[in-house]
Amino acid sequence: MSELILDHIAIAVADLDAALEFWRDRLGMPLGPIDIPPGLGARVAFLDTGPTATELVEPHGEDSPVARFLASGKRGVHHIAYRVKDIDAELARLRAAKVPLIHERAVPGSRGTRVAFIHPRSTDGVLVELVEYPPAVGNRLHGNG
Ligand code: CO
Repeated sequence: MSELILDHIAIAVADLDAALEFWRDRLGMPLGPIDIPPGLGARVAFLDTGPTATELVEPHGEDSPVARFLASGKRGVHHIAYRVKDIDAELARLRAAKVPLIHERAVPGSRGTRVAFIHPRSTDGVLVELVEYPPAVGNRLHGNG
């Protein structure tokens, strides 16, 4: 079994509350936590869609990557996230391979997760997030930036 497990797919939205009227109310996805992870420039909502969550990301604060994404005219999927057991080891391996990274070191995600983004030029244009859950939470919960 792969060490990389598809954790969530994130969709950029300009207005989270308006977007929830579709994703939660029309499609009927149960809403999980809404959070503002420090330093990621987004307010995020997780929807329970089974083992792979759906995340909605709304621009938040100054210097928001999601704001830049939307301002450039892009819509739709913003990033996909893979759960890893040891994000420090993964990042060390990628740094050693000279893979361009947005985060050379893991940064805090929501609810105790640690996350890092790989630069899209490394990944055929897809923004990829790595997420490591805290040991106490294990693999039960979704959530991060
Ligand atoms: Co995410």
